[in-house]
Amino acid sequence: MTAHPAPAAPRRHLPDTLVTLADHERHARGVLDEATWAYLFGAAGDELTLDRNQEAWRALELLPRVLRPLAGGHTRVDLLGRTLAHPILVAPMAYQCLAHADGEHATALATAALGAGLVFSTQASARLEDVAAAFLPEAGRGPLWFQLYLQPDRGFTEELVRRAEGAGYEALVLTVDAPVQGARDRERSARFRLPEGLRAVNLDGLRHAPARTLEAGQSALFDDLLHHAPTWDDVAWLRSVTRLPVLLKGVLHPDDARQALACGAAGLIVSNHGGRTLDTATATCAALPRVAQAVQGAVPVLVDGGIRRGTDVLKAIGLGASAVLVGRPVLQGLANAGASGVAHVLRLLRDELEIAMALTGCRTLDQAPSALTCNWPP
Ligand code: FNR
Ligand code: LAC
Repeated sequence: MTAHPAPAAPRRHLPDTLVTLADHERHARGVLDEATWAYLFGAAGDELTLDRNQEAWRALELLPRVLRPLAGGHTRVDLLGRTLAHPILVAPMAYQCLAHADGEHATALATAALGAGLVFSTQASARLEDVAAAFLPEAGRGPLWFQLYLQPDRGFTEELVRRAEGAGYEALVLTVDAPVQGARDRERSARFRLPEGLRAVNLDGLRHAPARTLEAGQSALFDDLLHHAPTWDDVAWLRSVTRLPVLLKGVLHPDDARQALACGAAGLIVSNHGGRTLDTATATCAALPRVAQAVQGAVPVLVDGGIRRGTDVLKAIGLGASAVLVGRPVLQGLANAGASGVAHVLRLLRDELEIAMALTGCRTLDQAPSALTCNWPP
C-alpha cells in the first residue's frame, strides 16, 4: 500500500534562489513523489478551474497612483472583531504530514509567527488540541479557525465542535462545496493512497454509516452517500449547537450568499476548493464582486483560489474581500523546508502586498478598490 517512501531526512533549509511563490512550486516538484504531488497539488477533471483561478487574478489590471503621501501606511484589516496585521490566512488543508514530517505543527508555528490566520482542517494529520496549543501562545498571531466537514454521525460532529471550542478555536468554517469528492483524475491515475500510519486523527472513533442496500437502477451517490450530505437545515443546526461564529466556505452564487445570511452565517468564503471539486467552476475572482454585492457588507467576505502574488491579494481586497486564504503555496513552502518554508511563503506574499499598495498609492487597504482599472471612474 505504501507507495510513498517518507523522505530520508526532514528538509529544513531553503535555497536562496527561491524568491517567488512560483519558485517554491517548482522546487517542491523535485522533493515530492509523483503520487503525493498529484494528491496535494492536483485538482478535479482537466484542472481548468485550477488554472483559471490564477489566470483571472493575473488578468485584472492595476492602476498606479503617484506622489500620494504613503508614510505610516499599513496592511491592517478588521475581521470578526479583531484587528489583523495583514489580510492573509492559511486555507484549511488535509494531511499536511504528506508534505513534510513536521506537518500541521510546522504550518501552525510559522503562520502564528508571521501574524497570519490559520484555518485547521477536519482531515488534518495532527490533533486539533496540539496545533491550537502551538499556535495560540504567539503574541502577534492571527485568528485560529476550525474547518468542519459535517459527518454523517451528527453526534460525533457535535463532539468535534466541543473539542474545537475547548481547544480555543475562534470560529467554525463549514465547508459546503464538497458533498462528494470531485473527479480527481490525476490523483487516481497516479494511484495515490495515504501512507501507512497517516490518517485524519481527529476523526478517530467515527462510526461510518452502514451502506444502504441499493435496488437495481439506484445510484450509489444519490441513493446512499448524499443521504448524509449537509443541507441548509444543518447550518441552522450547527448554529444551534455552538457559540462560535460559523462561516461558510465554498459559496460562489449570490443567491447562496443571501441564503447563508438568512441562516445566520457570520462570514462567507468565496471558494471553489482550489479547483478540486467541480472542474470548470467559475474563477473565484469572477464570483467575488457578485457575492460582495449580494452581502452588502453585512458579514465579511473572504476569498481563496489562485492567490500567488501580493498584487493578487490587493486585487481581492479591491473587489470586496476582507481577507484572502492561501492554499497550495503554503504546502509547497512546507514541503521545501518545513516551518521556515511556510514562513518564507507568507513573508513573500506580505512583502509583495506592501509594495503593490505603495505603487498604487494605497496607504491602507480600504483604498484598494481605487487600485483596480475595473473600478476606474467613467
Ligand atoms: C484543500 N482544501 C480543503 N478545503 C477544506 O475546506 N477542507 C480541507 O480539508 C481541504 N483540504 C485540502 C487539501 C489540499 C492538499 C488542498 C490543495 C486543498 C481547499 C483549500 O482550503 C482551498 O480552498 C484551496 O486550496 C485554495 O486554492 P489555492 O490557494 O490552493 O489555489
Ligand atoms: C481535499 C479535501 C480533503 O480537497 O477537502 O483534499
